[in-house]
Amino acid sequence: MFKKILIPVILSAAMLLGGCSDISVNVNINRDGGRKKLMAVKDDLKWWQETIAYEIYVKSFKDSDGDGCGDINGIISELDHLKNLGVGAIWLTPCYVSPQADNGYDIADYYDIDPAYGTMEDMDRLIEEADKRGIRIVMDLVFNHTSDQNEWFKESALSKDNEKSDWYIWADPKEDGSAPNNWRSIFGGSAWEYNEERGQYYLHTFLPEQPDLNWENPKVREALIDVANFWVKKGVGGFRMDAITYIKKPADLSDGKPDAADGMVGIHSMTANTEGILDYLDEFKSAVQDDTDIFTVGEANGVSAKDLPNWVGKNGVFDMVFEFGFVNIDLPDESNWCETREWTLPEFKAVFSASEKMTSDPKINGWYPMFLENHDQPRSINHFLPEGADRVAGGKALATLLLTMRGTPFIMEGEELGFVNVAWPDIDDYNDISTKNHYKFAIGEGYSEEEAMAGVHRFARDSARTPMQWDGSENAGFTSGKPWLPVSDDYETVNVKAESSDPDSVLSWYHELVNLRSSHREFIDGDYEEILHEDEQIFAYLRENADAKAVVLINMSTEKAAYDPSITENAKQILCTGEGSDAGELAPLEAVIYEELK
Ligand code: GLC
Repeated sequence: MFKKILIPVILSAAMLLGGCSDISVNVNINRDGGRKKLMAVKDDLKWWQETIAYEIYVKSFKDSDGDGCGDINGIISELDHLKNLGVGAIWLTPCYVSPQADNGYDIADYYDIDPAYGTMEDMDRLIEEADKRGIRIVMDLVFNHTSDQNEWFKESALSKDNEKSDWYIWADPKEDGSAPNNWRSIFGGSAWEYNEERGQYYLHTFLPEQPDLNWENPKVREALIDVANFWVKKGVGGFRMDAITYIKKPADLSDGKPDAADGMVGIHSMTANTEGILDYLDEFKSAVQDDTDIFTVGEANGVSAKDLPNWVGKNGVFDMVFEFGFVNIDLPDESNWCETREWTLPEFKAVFSASEKMTSDPKINGWYPMFLENHDQPRSINHFLPEGADRVAGGKALATLLLTMRGTPFIMEGEELGFVNVAWPDIDDYNDISTKNHYKFAIGEGYSEEEAMAGVHRFARDSARTPMQWDGSENAGFTSGKPWLPVSDDYETVNVKAESSDPDSVLSWYHELVNLRSSHREFIDGDYEEILHEDEQIFAYLRENADAKAVVLINMSTEKAAYDPSITENAKQILCTGEGSDAGELAPLEAVIYEELK
């Protein structure tokens, strides 16, 4: 029912500008006057560079059969919400057959759909129904590891000399029978698990239920290429490559220098982005992507701006990579959620600007996947804004950043409604295994229960995974059954239906920005240049193409912020989250966009 009242993507300028409606006339006049010139835009962008991507956490998006778990038919029923958001690519978290030790990131069969999510016919229909709306489906390829229930692993574990014996990373115990080295898995505890049958340990970067594949073996690489090509043939639009920087292990498997009281070292510092990894990824690219229009985006922990020429663009192995430099800006150590780090806005801005600068260098000709949230991260309002920031104003400020930077924006399910973190009282209320392990680690390191829970409230992955809120009815319209994870308490007001009919909601602001992107092409193909870098409150930048120059100013603080008004002197204000404040001043969390036509 709520679909009927969704705000259409193409809004009239008067509606669009809300509090800034007096400015809309100028915008229209200027846009009409500028139309001819607008023909002269760059036209060599690929479809995925012009669109908006949206991440669906399949288990939490929409349940169609009342089992409390989201499914593919549920997604089909809500495709119009995404179409109205201007979405052209949906990244689905893994929905292959899986025992769900890590909610699907432990794949038992890459060639079939988990019955909890539907059937292969449902998936074919999703691809088709999405396509009708101009949306492509992006599959999550989890290729660093499989499930321990995958037939490949079961066979590998049988003996030291079967056909798949070296499809995983096996090693003998140390002389005292202990694990081959002191590497700590990303989810806590040793990265090695003993297997009785083989009398050996196997390596797991994540859970023991997620054994790492041995990419050194050409047969493994071939098998993975076959999987990807199977999905290309189905008509998917791209792949998100999970944990891809960990696939190549160093030849030397000896102990690393301990980084905590447990005497272990985080595996990521030993195996991320290891020399030789690019050869494997190059091989994958030519075997899967050549002669297709699909895109790839790698989850690239351990890759930073300086590495980008090898990872994206002309000579890169992917089209885009998710970098995490800004994500962990508040964590001195990823494995310890109890310590936080003070950070400044100039630091935060510098991470984006370095990557934008690198990817836009014509020698590289790369592209950036702009994101502030995903299913592993806290909600961005809690993560990047000061404590106590207003949810609606904060959600709009961050949406402005997300949708006006150079690159393809990736919206995380719920982000468009301004979701915030949940803070459940007990660790047993949480579902995510990594959250539980971080809690255990904290207690083991001597933190109090209270300190450990504070870390959980701040960083738990469950906050990004609570069910999508569709309306104010029981369970937020997500399911008619019992949701697998509790719905957030704010569902009666924070939901698609309520926000669709409220012109001041976060969702309505998303629609305004989506419309802005489609009518002001500099936000798609324009160059990016950061300005006011040293400013501690304002994130400001230019987006400029041959026809127009836009100035985006976002006050990321909860205090008023002043800036030199001469930077917008010749420009018209075309959008603002607030009442249309005076040039030279921004209200707390206010975002304003100016534009000057050439
Ligand atoms: C990636 C996924 C995360 C998962 C992990 C193991 O980081 O985003 O959700 O737990 O890989 O596959």
